[in-house]
Amino acid sequence: MNTERILLTGAGGQIGTVLTRALREKHGSDQVLPTDIRLPEEPEGAFENMDVLDQQQLQSTAGRFKPTQIYHLAAILSAKGEKNPRRAWDINMQGLFNVLDLAREWEAKVFFPSSIAVFGRYSPKQQTPQHTVLQPETVYGISKVAGESWCQYYFEKYGLDVRALRYPGIIGYQSMPGGGTTDYAVEIFHQAVAGKSYVCFLRADTRLPMLYMPDAIRATLELMAAPAEQITVRTGYNLAGMSFTPAEVAREIQRHLPGFEVQYRPDFRQSIADSWTQSIDDSQARADWGWKPEYDLSSMTQDMLRHLRERVTIG
Ligand code: SER
Repeated sequence: MNTERILLTGAGGQIGTVLTRALREKHGSDQVLPTDIRLPEEPEGAFENMDVLDQQQLQSTAGRFKPTQIYHLAAILSAKGEKNPRRAWDINMQGLFNVLDLAREWEAKVFFPSSIAVFGRYSPKQQTPQHTVLQPETVYGISKVAGESWCQYYFEKYGLDVRALRYPGIIGYQSMPGGGTTDYAVEIFHQAVAGKSYVCFLRADTRLPMLYMPDAIRATLELMAAPAEQITVRTGYNLAGMSFTPAEVAREIQRHLPGFEVQYRPDFRQSIADSWTQSIDDSQARADWGWKPEYDLSSMTQDMLRHLRERVTIG
């Protein structure tokens, strides 16, 4: 019998929305409790309105639910974080401490989403290795480096089974991202399918690592299901799918929608993107727990357009 009891924070976000469904499919709906500070627009089963900064609320929710696993997805992302750095730091760090301490109490396994934002200008830009110079330049990146280190600390000192992935930009049709630098790669598809042009906030040649949502979800589930002795990285695993520029994804969309147009008006997010790396070496994840992405730019584009067009037709 499956006895996992899975609590999610930030479950209403881009990844949380899809991960909640995947976890419910795998473990059963009642075994999964999504929480978020925002109420869901379309509730799907049990949900709790929760602020990760409210430790008492976290404790009482856990007391009732008795989690064996916690997926801590609540965070302020790279672009939004720069608008109010201290607030982003408080939410990202205090939220993580609250979750790590709660997990200790319940001896629960933890998933922590790290990011390519841990890298900075001194990190190698191509095939960025697992262990390398970090020195991030956004408050989000700083909170992810510190968060990864604290995850490792809780593993080493307290034996807490914390696992983390450095997600690249995630592209999916099911949900919208919010406040990130890679958000353009989702927005561009929605505009294209709506028959509109797109104004991109990054330069046409800005190459960034990206991953299609089904791969991201599978990576998360596979990492969490792997035997503990196979996990050799307790900070955050590098994870790669594809790398492309706005011009390249626009061209790929135009193969399906020839009239689609993109203009480029870089804003403050350009320097964030420029500080990140262009491609990622994820050989450690491949070796340790068998990670392998399925989607490339062409198959991802085809699948995104198919799903978004279905929605337009149905909607
Ligand atoms: N997608 C995130 C962002 O752009 C990176 O982790 O902030």
